[in-house]
Amino acid sequence: MRLPDKVKMVEVGPRDGLQNEKQSISVDTRIALIDRLSASGLSVIEAGSFVSPKWVPQMAASEEVLAGIHRSPGTVYSALTPNLKGYERALAAKADEVAVFGAASEAFTQKNINCSISESLERFRPLLERARQDGIRVRGYVSCVLGCPYEGDIDPRKVAEVSGALLEMGCYEISLGDTIGVGTPEAAKRMIEQVGARVPVEKLAVHFHDTYGQALANIYAALQMGVAVVDSAVAGLGGCPYAKGASGNVASEDVLYLLNGLGIETGVDLNLLADAGNFISSALGRESNSRVAKALAG
Ligand code: HMG
Ligand code: MG
Repeated sequence: MRLPDKVKMVEVGPRDGLQNEKQSISVDTRIALIDRLSASGLSVIEAGSFVSPKWVPQMAASEEVLAGIHRSPGTVYSALTPNLKGYERALAAKADEVAVFGAASEAFTQKNINCSISESLERFRPLLERARQDGIRVRGYVSCVLGCPYEGDIDPRKVAEVSGALLEMGCYEISLGDTIGVGTPEAAKRMIEQVGARVPVEKLAVHFHDTYGQALANIYAALQMGVAVVDSAVAGLGGCPYAKGASGNVASEDVLYLLNGLGIETGVDLNLLADAGNFISSALGRESNSRVAKALAG
């Protein structure tokens, strides 16, 4: 299949990246990161998460973050919302878009959001109904699409089933998460093929963590399948607090370098994106996980 002409990069660093940090990160740093990211031309930035602050303390004060950012007219600022309470907080904070998050694994769903897969879908239903009335778009995440930290292998048919249910409920896009970064390209293709029978490929996004260094290869495989939405985190920040051993997301700079090399349009400036990554790496007091950022820094 022909590669897509354009790819939408969804920047999840300020959420997926920072949610897993051990050290405390100030609201001002979160805001400064998001403002640098929007200056690079990114059209979607996941700016925070309206989950229980007891479960994920790093995402507390997402209201303050959304209130403090400079909103670039070309950028959509989104947030995670696990339930109606989270949705109401996100709406009050003027998130442009929200995301619900389910998984293809029962055990992971239980650890992450404290309910079964079917209960999670029932929780999302009223949220999607409210969002429809409010004219707010909802993204749906499916975690553990290529493996689960508790259950091991995941049947792609289960991924297709949960993805299909989220689509039918009204999600406009389904992001397929390799939460623990164990996937390889052929497995990714088989999974996307299976999901593609339930969800049109134009509505699919891929979300790879880079634990085993396979993320770019998997993204290339997904592009070959026609997927044109790719999630990543600047400087390769991140991990999921409820998935032991899950390292950061694939670095946005590395994804952009790949897409530039393939002649695929994104609207994102590599140098400005790398500036954002260098800013957060130095704020966290460590080296960037992006190979491209390191190479550019010479
Ligand atoms: P629960 O304890 O079952 O919920 O948690 P509950 O309804 O019984 O509420 C318990 C307490 O939380 C109550 O407060 C609620 O008010 C409060 P208390 O009475 O004890 O003081 N509460 C909330 N507070 C603020 N905002 C809310 C909210 N909801 C309830 N929205 C719950 C269920 C879903 C809330 C909890 O399990 C939770 O917050 N989980 C979040 C887990 C999370 O954020 N994980 C990381 C994101 S997922 C991810 O990273 C994967 C992804 O990147 C894709 C991939 O890589 O695969 C997306
Ligand atoms: Mg993730």
